[in-house]
Amino acid sequence: MDCPIPNAVVPVAGLGTRLLPATKSQPKGMLPVARKPIVQYVLEELGRSGVRNVLFVTGQGKAAIENHFDPDTGLMDTLRRSGKDDLLLELDFEKLGLNILYTRQSVQRGLGDAILHGESFAGRDPFIVALGDSIIGLKGDSTACRRMADAFVEHEAEVVIAVEEVPPERVRFYGIVDPGGDGDLFPIRTMVEKPSLDVAPSRLAVSGRYVFSPTIFDMIRSVRPDRRGEIQITDAIRRVAERGGKVLGVKLRPEEKRHDIGNMPSYFETFIEFALADPDHGERVRSHLIKVLGVPPGKQL
Ligand code: UTP
Repeated sequence: MDCPIPNAVVPVAGLGTRLLPATKSQPKGMLPVARKPIVQYVLEELGRSGVRNVLFVTGQGKAAIENHFDPDTGLMDTLRRSGKDDLLLELDFEKLGLNILYTRQSVQRGLGDAILHGESFAGRDPFIVALGDSIIGLKGDSTACRRMADAFVEHEAEVVIAVEEVPPERVRFYGIVDPGGDGDLFPIRTMVEKPSLDVAPSRLAVSGRYVFSPTIFDMIRSVRPDRRGEIQITDAIRRVAERGGKVLGVKLRPEEKRHDIGNMPSYFETFIEFALADPDHGERVRSHLIKVLGVPPGKQL
């Protein structure tokens, strides 16, 4: 089913310094999580949400992403001849029915600036932003973007943000929202970047999926770079809220856990979770972990 908001921007231009040396000469988005590179999960999620056009904001050294999504007829023929139909299915990006476009952020001036590179793509229409280093849910069947797009249209919002409740010790790592209500859909009064637990307005963390009205571009332009020279999207969203624009939060469901691959511990954890969930090899990975961890017989991992 088509999404009421058919355009999505996927920023993948970040330097990925927290994942060095793995990201020295390959993009963070191409790191494998079990079977697939991260960006493939993101693209498949958007395709299933009914998005039609995807703009990747790439940068220096990110050509592997473009190569990954280019049709490779030679490879497909070889797989077909050798009867590897399961692999054919996983590599057939055309079946997602997406138009994939690329633009380039030549200087990494932050996520806000990366999104600004989507301005001519979005035009006067609202658009989705899906961070290229975050996977939502283990099974790839998240409907979060779809619910966010529906909420955006129904409530005439300016911004919709996916949020997820994080444990108290994780609050200081994320943008945290100040919710103006309960439930799965609520207004957001403001948001605070990486607060300490005692001043955090909630434990609801911004989770890598957004819907924006094109007014966000002016807001981004009005934001000053932070001390690292980066334009933060959080600052632009806060401005929308301060000017009375409607900012809504959509809560991710328990099965839609956000896997943020931006740092090593989270990348390791995500890889293990996805490897354990693999339909063909998960059981073997589980047995191996039991052995490695020395779990006594009869105890569950
Ligand atoms: P991060 O905040 O994780 O930054 O980006 P980063 O640069 O990728 O990684 P570190 O901090 O150096 O380890 C969140 C998302 O925004 C994109 C990233 O590619 C990632 O998908 N991004 C970030 C850009 O596209 N451009 C930027 O200038 C910054």
